[in-house]
Amino acid sequence: MNKKIDFFNLSRQYKKNKTNIVSRINEVLENQTYIGGKVVANFEINLAKYLNAKHAISCNSGTDALLMALSVIGLKENEIVLTTPFSFIASGSEIVALKAHPVFIDIEKETHNIDPTKIKNWIDNNCEFKNNNLVHKETGYKVAGILPVDIFGQCADYEKIKAITKKYNLWIVQDSCQAIGACDKNNIMAGNHGDISCFSFYPTKNLGAFGDGGVCATNNTKLAEKLLRYRNHGRKDHYNYTERGTNSRLDGIQAAVLDEKLKCLDNFNNRRRKIAQMYNNELCDIESIKLPREINGKHIYHQYCVKLKNIDRENFMQNLKDKGVNTNIYYPKGLNQIEFLSTEENLKTNCPISDNLTESILALPIWPELENDEVLYICKQIKENLNTLNFLKEINNNILKKQA
Ligand SMILES: Cc1ncc(COP(=O)(O)O)c(C=O)c1O
Repeated sequence: MNKKIDFFNLSRQYKKNKTNIVSRINEVLENQTYIGGKVVANFEINLAKYLNAKHAISCNSGTDALLMALSVIGLKENEIVLTTPFSFIASGSEIVALKAHPVFIDIEKETHNIDPTKIKNWIDNNCEFKNNNLVHKETGYKVAGILPVDIFGQCADYEKIKAITKKYNLWIVQDSCQAIGACDKNNIMAGNHGDISCFSFYPTKNLGAFGDGGVCATNNTKLAEKLLRYRNHGRKDHYNYTERGTNSRLDGIQAAVLDEKLKCLDNFNNRRRKIAQMYNNELCDIESIKLPREINGKHIYHQYCVKLKNIDRENFMQNLKDKGVNTNIYYPKGLNQIEFLSTEENLKTNCPISDNLTESILALPIWPELENDEVLYICKQIKENLNTLNFLKEINNNILKKQA
């Protein structure tokens, strides 16, 4: 009998943790500390401890975390930020929001993260280092920093990236929106690689709120102070405003939900890792599917994405859907292909690995409450679906041979 397997399902997690979460929400309702207050402050302390970072400054979303980070680090109009094309829109759009220029550097084949060797090549071929500034020769624009994304829950190669930023005096804003709880091969947790690191609490993230939410983590106290002011209208103390800021505050109800769920985060991540292991074991012998690889430390599998080789993706997805298995595509388009993100001709780059990946990648369901028998069912359907597709291909080939 067919099962029905959601690509993501929030209700099972809610049901399991309902009593504790509802009681935490009730605390906020009783105290009526809807904005700020003890619950938000405690969550920030607990999260900083979890991340092993000095400061955690919560805000309204991962997108806001990126905008706040780029603003307080001092990104200016017409400066360049080197970043990955293979990501969610926000990691490019917030650079453009400050009238700066993202330059997209292609990704590594295995991790799908920005490739440090290609960063180095782009700098060597296009820039000069003068007066302690890295400058793009053709435009005269300053290269200000690097914004790597820990895509799908695996850290970028910060050892190599940091060698570059140190040499050329660049900052790092780490987009860890998908990587809460991950660490790199040196056991350094996501949240500690950038001058500022950004996380999202979008409901389907590994640590998800009941609405929007985000946080900036930093070990730099001066930047932390700036972030605190920025999220609250640039306010230093009561009605004393020192710079332009915004309103980006995590509300008390979201903080209560997140603080309660934070206690379970390692369990959630370990369960995702277990499911990834099951997929690896079941699908490793299939020629036409390339599995994700855990290369740089601890992957927390926000997504489990496979690469399809010579398979019609739409067809494959539809066949799985007919059997009750829902899949998704992250990402069908690279940021280098989005026009408003690359407006200057001589800052455009080629990103063939990312372009190719956008055409062949497929995300399988991975969420902590997915049962083992459901994972096995998904694998069985994948195998049967591929057998049918291969069988049809063979018949087609035979017909073509006969016709020739
Ligand atoms: C890599 C990445 N960056 C940024 C964001 C933006 O986070 P939010 O949706 O909380 O604004 C997301 C969320 O989907 C993301 O996956």
